[in-house]
Order: sequence, then C-alpha cells, then structure tokens
Amino acid sequence: MIGTPLCDLLGIIHPILQGGMAWAATAELAAAVSNAGGLGIVGAGDAPAEEVRRQVRRTRELTDRPFGANVPIFTAGVEDRLQVFIDEGVSVVTVGGGNAGPYLGPLRRAGIRVIPVVASAALARRMARQGVDALIAEGMESGGHVGDVATMPLVPQVVDAVEIPVIAAGGIADGRGLAAALALGAVGVQMGTRFICTTECQAHRNYKERIVKAHDRATIVTGGAFGHPVRSIRGPFVRRLEELERTGVSEEEFLVYGAGRLRAAMVDGDVQYGSVMAGQSAGLVDDVVPVQVLIDQIVADAEAIMRRNAARITG
Ligand SMILES: Cc1cc2nc3c(=O)[nH]c(=O)nc-3n(C[C@H](O)[C@H](O)[C@H](O)COP(=O)(O)O)c2cc1C
Repeated sequence: MIGTPLCDLLGIIHPILQGGMAWAATAELAAAVSNAGGLGIVGAGDAPAEEVRRQVRRTRELTDRPFGANVPIFTAGVEDRLQVFIDEGVSVVTVGGGNAGPYLGPLRRAGIRVIPVVASAALARRMARQGVDALIAEGMESGGHVGDVATMPLVPQVVDAVEIPVIAAGGIADGRGLAAALALGAVGVQMGTRFICTTECQAHRNYKERIVKAHDRATIVTGGAFGHPVRSIRGPFVRRLEELERTGVSEEEFLVYGAGRLRAAMVDGDVQYGSVMAGQSAGLVDDVVPVQVLIDQIVADAEAIMRRNAARITG
C-alpha cells in the first residue's frame, strides 16, 4: 500500500487516476479503475450532454466507489457537460485543455472537488489562486493534446509553485513511473495511454494493438502550427496532417480534415485514417490486461522500487 494525501482527498486506496479520454474513458473503464482502488474518470470529450449523463449514471451503477468526470475546455458546449456533472452529483471534476478558470465557479459552488490539468508552472499558480483542490501537471510525453514541457522538469516546478497536491501525468505506465512521480514531489499519477490497453476499456482492438506494437519513437506531435498540438501514433493520417501543416493550409481546413478522426480509430477501428492518440509511454505497453491486475502490479512494483532505493542509503 502506498498512501499519500491524494488518497485522503479523494477517498481512494491507490494514488492512481485514470485520465479522462474522449471515446475511451467510458463508464466501464472508469468503474473498473474505481473498483480497483484508483480514481476512474468518465471522459465527456465533446459528447452530447445526455450521453454524458448516461455515462455518469452507468458508472454509478457499476461502482459504489468515488469516481470523477472530465471535460476538455476547447470543445463547444462545455458548460452543458459541466452542468450534467453538477446535476448528477459527480464528486471530482478534472478539466483539461488549457485555462479552466472561467469554468471553475459553478463547480466549486456545487462543492465539487476541482482538479485542472496544467502544462506550465504559470498556469498552475493561476489555478491555485482560484482555490482548486489539486492539479494534474501533464508533460508533453502525454497522449492527446499536449503542452511543451516534459514531465520530469514540469512536475517539480509545479510542486514548487503551489501549496496544493500535484498529480503527475505524461509518460507514466508502470510502477517505475509511479515511484518516479512520487520522488518528484507528486502525490499520485494520472495515466491515459496505459489504461486504453485494459480489458475493460471499450476502445477498438485495432487501437489497443497499435499501442501494444508501438516502440519508443512511434508517436509524434502535429497541429502545433495552429496552436492545437496533439500527440498520436504515426501512420497515414498523421502523415497527411504533417503535409497539410507544411503546405500552409488554413486552420479551418486543418481542423475539418481532423474532425471525427479519434472516433473513427477508437470506435470503428480505422487506425490508418483515424487518429490514434497515444503518449510516448505506448512503447512501455506490451499487453492488454484487466484493470485490477494492472493497478495491483503498478503499486507492488512502485513499493518494491521505493524499498530498494531506501535500502541503498548507506552510512
Ligand atoms: C486518446 C486520448 C484521449 C484523451 N482525451 C482527453 C480529454 O478528453 N480530456 C483531457 O483532459 N485529457 C485527455 N487526454 C489526456 C489523458 O487524460 C492523460 O492526462 C494523458 O493520457 C496522460 O499521459 P499518458 O498518455 O502518457 O498516460 C487524452 C489522452 C488520450 C491518449
């Protein structure tokens, strides 16, 4: 058992959050993570409010443990999804994709624990001043939308910048990552890519297979030219995005080409022309396992590492 202040704050057993991921973080995955002692998070993505409500209610049917919900702020209709979280009494909300400031008031007034995702120490300070409960410091190794600072330097700088608990995300997929995050001053980790490759995740098997087969340099960031950098696994779709960026198409054209591509890969299994968002940690993922097995292994490995390291102190 590794107990940190995050476990007390969220009422969880292990300091492990499953990232809210559009199309992948459905009720089945979120409930499995919560049942295994972590914090499962329903990823609302850009889904219609009623679908989000259905997912939240289904999660509650599948677990009696605490769970959370996530919205990325760059999607249209964010307020409607946040209202669903409030109406449905979700106890923890993570907000990704940039400055969550404008959306925090109603959540905090409803007594919800709010945990914004930040990619810089400056944004961490701003969020902390607004009275959020914790922060997720997400490095550019992550899958999906990314910032430009890597996890190793980002996490300790965010820890130094704020007084509230900090959760590390980006590039973490095993017990070594958890032990490293704790050494950097984090109180826990959030993982996305690793949780896609679990039995309970509803992602298409082709998507999971792409992650399992990926090596350390399999991912690349595209969309930086338009201020929407996204990390995904290389393939024909990503090559086309690179081409579009090189030839200087308009932002609108770029976004239209990318629209609906995550769903195509995640739900329909089109991993050629769909978007296979995943982090650099894909190279660490070699199998698809049940969530409980994964979490137990991560905690046991982190514990062994921490004991081994403590035993290295001599004299
Ligand atoms: C397919 C995919 C979709 C994601 N969608 C979201 C999202 O909707 N909102 C969000 O805040 N983060 C999103 N993320 C980021 C994850 O929540 C998590 O922070 C990230 O995956 C951590 O890095 P890792 O992939 O190296 O574990 C997404 C990540 C992936 C891989």
